[in-house]
Amino acid sequence: MSHVNMTWLDLFRHGSRSRNSRLRLSTEREKKAMEAGNGCRPNITDDRWSLRGTTALVTGGSKGIGRAIVEELARFGAAIHTCCRSEQELNKCLQRWEAMNFTVTGSVCDVSSPVERENLMDKARSIFDGKLNILINNAAIGYINPAIKVTLEEYKHVMSTNLDSAFHLSQLAHPLLKASARGSIVFISSVAGFLGINTASVYGATKGAMNQLTRSLACEWAKDNIRTNCVAPGVIRTPLVRPLLDNKEFVAKETRRVPLRRFGEPKEVAAVVAFLCLPASCYVNGQVICIDGGKTINGNL
Ligand SMILES: NC(=O)c1ccc[n+]([C@@H]2O[C@H](COP(=O)([O-])OP(=O)(O)OC[C@H]3O[C@@H](n4cnc5c(N)ncnc54)[C@H](OP(=O)(O)O)[C@@H]3O)[C@@H](O)[C@H]2O)c1
Repeated sequence: MSHVNMTWLDLFRHGSRSRNSRLRLSTEREKKAMEAGNGCRPNITDDRWSLRGTTALVTGGSKGIGRAIVEELARFGAAIHTCCRSEQELNKCLQRWEAMNFTVTGSVCDVSSPVERENLMDKARSIFDGKLNILINNAAIGYINPAIKVTLEEYKHVMSTNLDSAFHLSQLAHPLLKASARGSIVFISSVAGFLGINTASVYGATKGAMNQLTRSLACEWAKDNIRTNCVAPGVIRTPLVRPLLDNKEFVAKETRRVPLRRFGEPKEVAAVVAFLCLPASCYVNGQVICIDGGKTINGNL
């Protein structure tokens, strides 16, 4: 009991200390902006529907939702670096993007490895001259298994691929995003972070944690002009869920739950992600937006 009390007391003291030091460290400009009710710098511009001149790192850009995001951001004018584990798939995509006149580079990286994440960020830092406007934490694996059958190794692998990677990459990207003076992080979560789904307890836990991480970083890093948002897709037609799409019983049950009565397309997720990166959304911060045809708000039987 005393241990619990000590922990809370420490937390409280630490919280007070950091609040005080933050106030002391505020610049005169920030103080004036706060007093005028401006807070962090407003950055709505005439060019608010363009990403020209911006840089982006998108993990898992070779397939599905990640690939659609790379292409959507490139259409808005961003220069992009992406990654995946398969060199062959990456090279195929790079050729496709070159033919489309998009500015995209890529490297092989397994985001479940802390060392490879550091190498990835080093690469982005050198390509983009130390400045990054956009980080999209998209790469993840699906994992379905009844909770009692999940091994510790499997649990750790799903956590490191889906959640540790997103947190660590955000941490590594922080100085680059701050240096850009207009940073935006978008996490790709899932409706499984809101809903209880049999056999998806570990996958759902990675996404639920990501939803909360969004809100926490949105508060912690707003002062550095970094916005943090998240999208939570329902079932989207990608290679990840191909086996489910071939299952007629699943398709019938699932589409019945979705008011729009269909699954989503990768481009429908990419469009919302692009909006969250555009200056047009510069007052949107800390939000988790479901892109699920209305599945999570459907109360009908
Ligand atoms: N599709 C859906 O219905 C759905 C629904 C909700 C949420 N989501 C989320 O949306 C995101 C994208 O899913 P998706 O459906 O587009 O998946 P996908 O079709 O399987 O594509 C995943 C991408 O991530 C890469 N990737 C996977 N593991 C990686 C790793 N360890 N390191 C680096 N890259 C890795 C893959 O390339 P390599 O295999 O070559 O590494 C691929 O480019 C995920 O976060 C997923 O949880 C998807």
